[in-house]
Amino acid sequence: MKVVETIAEMRQARKELEETIGFVPTMGALHEGHLSLVRRAREENASVVVSIFVNPTQFGPKEDFKSYPRDTKRDLEMLEPDTDIVFMPSGAEMYPDNYDSWVEVGTITENLEGASRPGHFRGVSTVVAKLFNIVQPTKAYFGQKDAQQLLVIKKMAADLDMNLEVVTCPTIREPDGLAMSSRNTYLKGQHRQVATVLYRALNLAEKRWDQEETDAGAIRLEMTELIKMEPLAKIDYVSIADVETLKEMHHKIKPPVLVSLAVKIGKTRLIDNTVLE
Ligand code: PAJ
Repeated sequence: MKVVETIAEMRQARKELEETIGFVPTMGALHEGHLSLVRRAREENASVVVSIFVNPTQFGPKEDFKSYPRDTKRDLEMLEPDTDIVFMPSGAEMYPDNYDSWVEVGTITENLEGASRPGHFRGVSTVVAKLFNIVQPTKAYFGQKDAQQLLVIKKMAADLDMNLEVVTCPTIREPDGLAMSSRNTYLKGQHRQVATVLYRALNLAEKRWDQEETDAGAIRLEMTELIKMEPLAKIDYVSIADVETLKEMHHKIKPPVLVSLAVKIGKTRLIDNTVLE
């Protein structure tokens, strides 16, 4: 496994790789969710490239860029078995002083995470476009955990004629259902237990759908009431939306729909989702 820090070195290393190339962009503080993407990339490609870059442009001014968990030594140990190249650029390498170009995806970035985190998707699509240009992968792997991000990346790749395939990978969970996330390390004591409320609310939606409840408003309300029973949890949004347009659904559900939610547990903001087919 080779570790490279500059764009020039990455381009050179890329030339020496055997095609096809699977690419997994990450912000580090790796967990089994990230590793599931890396293993899938390994299965489907001759070479695997992983990037670790905590991208400053996708964090809002009051968000956790500075405190975002970083543990490079551990990350590299975890990547060793299945990775050929780790690309770990500095902030200045990706965004030199005169940097001034941005990639903006339209309507699907306006609600959900886009509404709660203004500018977030502009930062995500810009850095992912740059990483795609640098790495030039055959396939790039993203988790369903960040459902809106996945749609934004797919839309960007299609609209801007990027020559690669974006692959969707399922959400990996802890035994109690909590979706794995680098931010779970912020959850201490009681907060860790309360955090399962996102999964419990999604399960409730699935159960009610299986029982043939088809009213979006009714399911949304039941989910909201369940979460409100936890005093440490504060709802940002609970959404039932069209899986492609992300337009919020009112009244009768027309499947498939994305049920997604963002909840603050203490100071930690968590997201999760499921699809009703
Ligand atoms: P990060 O949060 O590190 O996630 C990197 C990738 O791992 C994303 O595609 C994310 O959806 C996936 N992932 C995270 N948790 C997962 C889980 N529990 N199961 C399956 N996949 C999971 O997402 C980002 O970084 C950044 O926005 C990035 C795309 C790297 C751009 O900066």
